[in-house]
Amino acid sequence: MQSSRIQSSARRETLPACVYLGSALAAASRQPGLWELAKSFQAIAGNLEWYRSRMQSDLKTASANFMDGHANAVIFGIGGLVHSDQLPLGVSLLAPNVCHPEHNHSPEEVYLVISEGEFRQGGGKWFTARFCGALYNEPNIVHAMRSGPRPLLALWVLASKAGAENL
Ligand SMILES: [Fe+2]
Repeated sequence: MQSSRIQSSARRETLPACVYLGSALAAASRQPGLWELAKSFQAIAGNLEWYRSRMQSDLKTASANFMDGHANAVIFGIGGLVHSDQLPLGVSLLAPNVCHPEHNHSPEEVYLVISEGEFRQGGGKWFTARFCGALYNEPNIVHAMRSGPRPLLALWVLASKAGAENL
């Protein structure tokens, strides 16, 4: 049974990486087709509950600045801005020059990249995703992402009704 409700609009605490959200959204807003998405995201960003990854995987492939250099938030889903027991939709933000470590999870995952950034799948070579690029992670594939000199911002959907703690 579906349930959804909008969480409190009280302003949430942010994480250190959130200082890069404005510049990431400004860059996105200059891209064809992303202006409205960036504007809409800006309107809700202050109400999101940002959290650090709670994934259990080894952090040895993370950059040393990973813990303070990233922030995640759930928009739709368990614990999200809009509580829902349907597929979770969230966002990940990396500060410049941060590597989110390799990890895997059983739910398949789709990213919509709304910045520049690099991704890696299955231990392969890093590849660049451009603004508005989509990326699919099949179930249990090992994957990672990293930012360059500018922040990386990506929306994601997990094919699971469970929480997003393994991101
Ligand atoms: Fe993932």
